[in-house]
Amino acid sequence: MVENFVNKIIRGDCLELFQSIPDNSIDVTFADPPFNLKKKYNNYKDKIALEAYLEWCKEWIEEMVRVTKPAGSIFLHNIPKWLTYYAGFLNEIADFKHWISWDAPTAPMGKTLQPSHYGILYYAKNSRENKFYELRYPHKRCRKCNYLLKDYGGKKAMLHPFGPLVSDVWTDIHRIKHNKYRDEHPCQLPIHLLERIILMSSDEGDIILDPFNGTGTTALAAKRLGRKYIGFDIDAKYIEICRRKLGMEEADSRLGKTRVSFFLDNIVTIRDIDWEELSNYYQIPEAARDIDHTSIRLFNSSKVIVKNFSSKSKKNNNEKQIILNLNYMQ
Ligand SMILES: C[S@@+](CC[C@H](N)C(=O)[O-])C[C@H]1O[C@@H](n2cnc3c(N)ncnc32)[C@H](O)[C@@H]1O
Repeated sequence: MVENFVNKIIRGDCLELFQSIPDNSIDVTFADPPFNLKKKYNNYKDKIALEAYLEWCKEWIEEMVRVTKPAGSIFLHNIPKWLTYYAGFLNEIADFKHWISWDAPTAPMGKTLQPSHYGILYYAKNSRENKFYELRYPHKRCRKCNYLLKDYGGKKAMLHPFGPLVSDVWTDIHRIKHNKYRDEHPCQLPIHLLERIILMSSDEGDIILDPFNGTGTTALAAKRLGRKYIGFDIDAKYIEICRRKLGMEEADSRLGKTRVSFFLDNIVTIRDIDWEELSNYYQIPEAARDIDHTSIRLFNSSKVIVKNFSSKSKKNNNEKQIILNLNYMQ
C-alpha cells in the first residue's frame, strides 16, 4: 500500500525501497541523482566506473517508470552528458515530452563551451493521458526604466498582465548562491525549481516521489504546494536535516486559495488557468499595451509573514522565506 509511505522520508538504497512501492501508484517521480562527478557527499562515493554508473541508472529509471501512474510524469535532472543515455533508456518505456534546459545563471570561466546549463528530461508514462498545466512567469523588465526586456513589437495589445508562458529554456531560476542559505549538502536544488515542476504536472493531494531526496527540496516543495511526498536517501544526515525542515514547513504557498510558487516576496510561477482568480489580487493597468512599461502590483493590504527555517545551528539560523498571506480577500 503506497499510503504507508506517504509523507515519509525513508533512509535506504532507493533500488531496495522501490520494491515496496506498487506499480502505477505515484503521480510524479523526480530524480536528481549523483552525477558521478566526485562531489563530496557525506559518505556516498560519487565516482564509479562508467558502465556500472549507467547500469545502475537504468535500474532506478525503470523503477521510476514502473511506479508512475498512467497519467503521471517522470522528471530526470542531470548534466547533458548523462541525459543522452537516460533518454535512450526512457524512449523504450515512456513517452518523451520535453528536454528542459535549466540555465542556472553562473559565470563559467576557463574555457569555451564550459557546461553552464543542466537538463531536465520530462517524460510522460503515457502521453495521451498525461496531466499537464501551462505555466507563466513574470515579465523580465529593465531595472532602470521598467520597460519589458523582450520586444513584443506590434503585439503589445496582447500582452499577458502577469507574464509569458514558460518555455523549455529556464533562465529565471538561480542556483542557491550563498552558503548561509544552503544545507550541508553539495548539490541542493532551489525549491522554486521543484515548485515549477510540481505545479506543471500535479494537483493538490497528488503524490510526488524523489528517490534521491538529499536534504528534501522535492518534499518541501510538495508540502508547500499541498501535495503528498515520498523521499528516499541513503544518508542518515541528509534525512535528519530534511525531516527537521519538513517539521517547520507549512502547506502555505498560495495567494488566496490558489497555489503559486514564491521566491522571497515575489510570485515566480503561476498556472495559466489560475490567472482569472489570481488577477483579483493585483492592480493591473487598464490597457494591455501599458504592461510594456507598468508592472502589475499586488494590492497593498497584503500581510507579509516572515518565516525562519534552517537546517543549521541557531547561530546560522538566518534562512528566510517570505510568504505573502493575502487573507483580506478570503
Ligand atoms: C544530487 S543529490 C540530491 C539533492 C537533492 N535534489 C536536494 O535538492 O537536496 C543525490 C542524493 O542521492 C543520495 N544517494 C546516493 N545513492 C543513493 C541510493 N542508492 N539510494 C538513495 N539515495 C542515494 C545521496 O546521499 C544524495 O543526497
